[in-house]
Amino acid sequence: MIHVGIIGCGKIAQSRHLPEYAANKDAVIDGVYDINTKRAEETAELYNTKCFASWKQLLADPSIEAVSICTANSTHSTLTISALSAGKHVLCEKPMGITLEECENMVAAAKRNNRFLMIGHNQRLTRTHQKAKELLCKGSIGEIRTFSTSFRHSGPENWTIDPGQVWFFDKEKASMGVMADLGIHKTDLIQFLTGQRISQVTAQIGTLDKRKPDGSYIEVDDNAFCIYGLENGAVGTMTASWSCYGPEENATVLYGTEGVMYLYTNPACSLIIEKKDGERILYELDQIQTNDSQTRSGVIDVWIECLKRNNPPAMSGEEILHSMRAVFAAIESAETGTTVKIR
Ligand SMILES: NC(=O)c1ccc[n+]([C@@H]2O[C@H](COP(=O)([O-])OP(=O)(O)OC[C@H]3O[C@@H](n4cnc5c(N)ncnc54)[C@H](O)[C@@H]3O)[C@@H](O)[C@H]2O)c1
Repeated sequence: MIHVGIIGCGKIAQSRHLPEYAANKDAVIDGVYDINTKRAEETAELYNTKCFASWKQLLADPSIEAVSICTANSTHSTLTISALSAGKHVLCEKPMGITLEECENMVAAAKRNNRFLMIGHNQRLTRTHQKAKELLCKGSIGEIRTFSTSFRHSGPENWTIDPGQVWFFDKEKASMGVMADLGIHKTDLIQFLTGQRISQVTAQIGTLDKRKPDGSYIEVDDNAFCIYGLENGAVGTMTASWSCYGPEENATVLYGTEGVMYLYTNPACSLIIEKKDGERILYELDQIQTNDSQTRSGVIDVWIECLKRNNPPAMSGEEILHSMRAVFAAIESAETGTTVKIR
């Protein structure tokens, strides 16, 4: 049995971490903590576990082997490094950290303490994305030359557990806006699906829509448009937006030398391949999660399996660092109006 603690009892903890740990036969939730004491107490009662008075007390509990970090972005690196230093394995939510230095320090802390660090990039685990990866590796559409991927919804005010005080819009707590919330998923997904690293970025990232109660724009970006160049020469686009007030968009199209692969563009068939010679292959695998329709992410099952078998996670801090480099390069590109190369 793997004994876990959860820091942060908001929406992502309540919709994924808590129920998925509770449903995993090899995991037991030993305790929770949240700066909102009432929320932490109610969560502890619901899951029949202990409510810690501080995250330091949770980390000091010797029975806890692994910790989920489900708090606001700006706290991820401090909590993760503290947990790793206390000898815990850590599953940290995205975005890994709010600067490249923070992310590098998190990876170094995992190595130094000989503990696993996994980042919750659940998009890699959907059945459609897993199948797409398998088919792409077999060359089902030949060599990928270009791609387009996008993630758009109406914004985190329609998601967070505290809609009256949206920390996602607060520069100090969130640091980045839609790029860290949604763009990061698709930036990571493109590298996962193609097996290629992003080597250069040209981006425009800014605030086009969301306003504070006083009418001024929020302090973080709400729209991101990135052109990603991959190390093999393929080039494609990644767009992320919080100003999509219709149905959520969460789709990817890959254009190869032998055909085109469509992921989550068709409500009935989540994966479609259209070959050069006219052949059409359809897969009905799953539907992508939306804010209103949460399905099991599979992240916790993968995480517990790694801990049980003492196998390093595929979505390790080290692996996700490559996606974070692209995210920070995109922000630099938008700020400087230049194309940024990633070393
Ligand atoms: N993997 C995904 O698809 C996905 C989806 C949504 C959110 N997230 C990430 O999960 C994290 C949490 O987001 P959320 O949607 O649950 O937000 P939320 O606003 O619903 O909840 C955040 C919770 O964290 C608590 N909190 C904040 N700072 C804390 C601290 N220092 N110590 C303890 N508790 C603290 C708040 O009181 C609140 O209960 C964010 O980093 C977000 O980017 C990931």
